Amino acid sequence: MTRTVYVNGTYLPETEAKISIFDRGFLMADGVYEVTSVLDGKLIDFDGHCARLGRSLAELEMAAPCSDAELLTIFRDLVRINDIVDGMVYLQVTRGNPGDRDFAYPPADTPPTLVAFTQNKPGLADSPAAKVGWKVISVPDMRWGRRDIKTTQLLYPSMAKMMAKAAAVDDSWFVQDGSVTEGTSNNAYIVKGNRIVTRQLSHDLLHGITRAAVLRLAAEAQMEVEERPFTIAEAQDADEAFVTSASAFVMPVVQIDGVDLAAGKPGPVAARLREIYIDEMRKTAI
Ligand code: PDD
Repeated sequence: MTRTVYVNGTYLPETEAKISIFDRGFLMADGVYEVTSVLDGKLIDFDGHCARLGRSLAELEMAAPCSDAELLTIFRDLVRINDIVDGMVYLQVTRGNPGDRDFAYPPADTPPTLVAFTQNKPGLADSPAAKVGWKVISVPDMRWGRRDIKTTQLLYPSMAKMMAKAAAVDDSWFVQDGSVTEGTSNNAYIVKGNRIVTRQLSHDLLHGITRAAVLRLAAEAQMEVEERPFTIAEAQDADEAFVTSASAFVMPVVQIDGVDLAAGKPGPVAARLREIYIDEMRKTAI
């Protein structure tokens, strides 16, 4: 089925959507994005994604293309028009098309480019992978120093995903100065007893919207949360590990660099957090 996508104020078939070759997103990866999940035809944590989009734009001195209310209308229109029950809305904002290539930012009144499209993922919340868990390898974190800004510069994360594929595992965890920053497209956690450990927020990692919700729900469920760096060796010795993201929710990790955690089976903490998170998100979806 041909999707209907959104480009700068217009809904049109994906085959007719066009962006200039001079667009800064294309030439310079000068753009930011958000991925918002859809469950039961409703948007998960829309406000969180809007808030982070605003922060990414502000950090890059990029103009907001529209208000949050307008964005909500666009997202809802795309979900409705494309009949999405479970899936995702992808949104990208770039610094627009200055009409030529130049390293300097174009004048501030250059209109930003706003693109959005849906991805259909039937049964998103019942992913079979969540019952088996992911295997990960560690790779050096060679990304730039402002990973807190959700930019479209995703070449190294793509390379790390390919390294994982080549090693016949599911994902890579980035390691910087001996400790884990995050996964290719998710935040990383380990569990020791009743304590969940995840790296504290900084410029080194993306401030995950799922992370914020999961840490809040974990605290409400009387679990201890410690925000600090951890090493691969500590992770391999943990009771459990997991990752979080808008698309994977809470995904157990059962093997790190060839070492099985808890006999290579998803642990109870990750399973419980996944259930609590999905329940809460279904309730609060808009
Ligand atoms: N990725 N860290 C990185 C590097 C990410 O790319 C993502 C999200 C996360 C988790 O953030 P959130 O919980 O807000 O989704 C952490 C999205 C899903 C993607 O690129 O497809």
